[in-house]
This record gives sequence, C-alpha cells and structure tokens, in this order.
Amino acid sequence: MKILVTGGTGYIGSHTVVELQQQGFEVVIVDNLSNSQASVVDAIGRITGKRPSLEVFDLVDRDKTDDFFRRHNDIQGVIHFAAYKAVGESVANPLLYYRNNLVSLMNILESMATYQIENLVFSSSCTVYGQPDEPPVSETAPIKKAESPYGNTKQISEEIIQDTLKSTSLKAIALRYFNPIGAHESALIGELPLGIPNNLVPFITQTAIGIRQQLSVFGDDYNTPDGTAIRDYIHVVDLAKAHVVAVKRMIENRMKHHFEVFNLGTGNGYSVLDVIKSFEKVSGRKLNYVIVGRRPGDVEKVWADPSLSNRELGWKALKNLDEMNASAWKWEQYYRSKE
Ligand code: NAD
Ligand code: WQD
Repeated sequence: MKILVTGGTGYIGSHTVVELQQQGFEVVIVDNLSNSQASVVDAIGRITGKRPSLEVFDLVDRDKTDDFFRRHNDIQGVIHFAAYKAVGESVANPLLYYRNNLVSLMNILESMATYQIENLVFSSSCTVYGQPDEPPVSETAPIKKAESPYGNTKQISEEIIQDTLKSTSLKAIALRYFNPIGAHESALIGELPLGIPNNLVPFITQTAIGIRQQLSVFGDDYNTPDGTAIRDYIHVVDLAKAHVVAVKRMIENRMKHHFEVFNLGTGNGYSVLDVIKSFEKVSGRKLNYVIVGRRPGDVEKVWADPSLSNRELGWKALKNLDEMNASAWKWEQYYRSKE
C-alpha cells in the first residue's frame, strides 16, 4: 500500500510518515522544503528503520505534479499536508497563501482524477470555526467568516474538495486539527519553526533554552478562569495516528459519505498559564514570562468535541498536557545539542 504524503518533511507530516511506516505502508513524500529540511527523512529512517523516499518540488507546478502522479499511479491514497500556515504572514501577503495553498490542492485533485486515485486526507484546521458560540465545538458548528487569509484557504479548500467529489470518484476526509504540540518520543523529529516562533509551545521551549529572552503572554483579561486564552492542545503523535486510521477507513471502504469531516482534539481546554505551569513542572525550569496585551485576531476560548472521531474513527487522543510539554522540551534540548 503506497501513500503519498505531501508536506511529509514538515512537522505533522513527518510524524505521520513514521506512523504510516510502522503500520506497514510504503510512503513517498513530496515537499519543496520551503519550511522543512531534507534531513528529516534520515531522522524518520532512524526511527522506523526505513528511509522514506522524498521528491523535492513545488506542488504549485502543474507539470511537475502531473509528472509525479504519472510515475506513481499505483498510489492508494494521498495525505495532503503541504501548505503555508503562518496566520500573520497570510494577512501581510494573502496572495502568497491563496496561490500556494489553493493551487497546490487543485493540481493534486486534477492529477488524482487523471490517474484515478480516489482517496484524499486533507489537513484542515479548527480555525474554520473562528470563535465558536459555546465550546466544545463539534463538526456541525457553523463555519464563521475566516479571521485570516490562511483560515480562508482552509475553508475554500474544503469547498473545492466537496465540489470536486460531486463530479469524480474522489473520496475525502478533512481532519480539523486543534492545537498540535509536542514531538516524537525519540526526539529525532519535532517542530522546527523558521525564525521567531508564532506559536506558544515553540516560544516556550526556545525561551527556556535561552534563544528567546522572555515569553509574552497575550492577554490576561479574557473571560476565562485565569484570564488567559484557552485552547485544545493535542500531542502531534496522537494527531499523526488519526491520519493512519483515516487512510485505512478510506482504503477499506468504511466511509459513510464521500466527504467526511472530523475534529482532532482532546476535548480539554487549557489556558496559556496552564501550559506554562505544566512546562515548568516537567522541565524543572522557571519560565521568564510577562503579561502583555491581547494578540489581534486571537479567539478567547476554543476546544473540541471529539466524540464523532472517538466513535466513528475509533480514535482517541491519549497523551496529556505534561506529556506534550515533556516531549517538546526533550526535542528542543536534543536539537540544540546538535547545533
Ligand atoms: P509545516 O510547515 O511544518 O509542514 C508543511 C510542509 O509543506 C513543509 O515541509 C513545507 O516545506 C511543505 N510545503 C508547503 N508548500 C508546499 C508546496 N507548494 N509544495 C510542496 N511542499 C510544500 O506545517 P505543519 O504544522 O506540519 O502543518 C501541516 C498541515 O496542517 C498544513 O496544511 C497546516 O495548514 C495544517 N494545520 C497545522 C496546524 C498547526 O498548528 N501546526 C493546525 C491546523 C492545521
Ligand atoms: C496559543 C495561545 C495565544 C504565543 C494557531 C493558528 C490556528 C492553528 C493553530 C493552523 C493563544 C497564546 C501564543 C505567544 C502567547 N493553525 N500565545 N504568547 O493562535 O491558537 O492557533 O495555530 O491551522 O489556525 O491560528 O496557536 O500557539 O499561536 O497560540 O500568549 O508567544 O497562546 O495568544 O492564546 P493559535 P498559538
């Protein structure tokens, strides 16, 4: 069983490749290395004993994408992670995001139709829900107007996929991730943000190791128990395992509809201060942080209702916040020790 993983040298993709290989799938990765490094395939090989194959090109290139699918028309399914994901950058440069995230998807869908590859797992996001009226948020919650061009690419992508499957034999599962954090227990792969991290946990680990001076906590005047914003953090390995479950569901013809959507979260909401306390506990380090004003565009509180995924996929996130922070910290220390 051969699976194409686009964006497979990236953060979530690399963890998913490990889980796929460990479940006996053959994996071929396509990535243009715009936000990852080719050496990730060696790290994956050290974990699984098998180095996945990597083809480096831009999926926005229609001809190269088609040529890839022509040479790999025995692929059983595609997991499409490749996209740009920085919310702020998408506000500053929306066309970059629309072009990269939408054209790559359209190229893949066209090639899948041409070479009769029917199974697609798509990386969507909880960002499609915006600020939900009342968390927990289930898959039937209304899709609010996107807060950013990045979020809009995820909404439009889901629509493009739904329209495409009306006229082709495509089947698709969109997985809406909440806040993935943490790293593989081996510490051989993890999240590698370029430049100054936007996301909370990479900023915490980089502060603790001394690369950043101080963490800014964005707002303590939210309507939450400690005033800081609440999210549903999920261990990246739990998230990766859900992709294998989704791929098997498609290949084994167990889908109930040609398009299915699942939330991937733990169902637990933690505040920024909860995350900091957990990090301090598992690392044994005091974190240098300061409370500052809210970050524009941030929602107050959001966490998943994962009951549909639990029931239908038979999947459940197992790792707790301490385990997430401990693995993120182990990865940061291991990575910096090599520099
Ligand atoms: P990442 O940046 O680590 O991985 C994405 C990979 O795709 C990178 O390796 C990058 O080089 C590659 N890529 C980007 N554009 C490409 C193109 N045109 N052609 C070929 N390769 C390309 O990001 P991630 O955190 O692993 O996210 C994976 C997916 O999950 C993305 O679609 C993202 O939007 C989505 N997602 C991420 C989060 C999160 O918080 N990390 C949350 C929800 C959804
Ligand atoms: C988490 C919390 C911040 C950094 C983003 C995307 C979303 C999805 C997941 C892709 C918030 C606070 C953060 C810092 C802080 N990605 N924070 N200081 O914003 O929930 O979601 O990643 O689809 O679309 O928007 O994640 O990690 O940036 O923030 O206080 O230096 O930590 O305000 O409350 P977010 P995050």
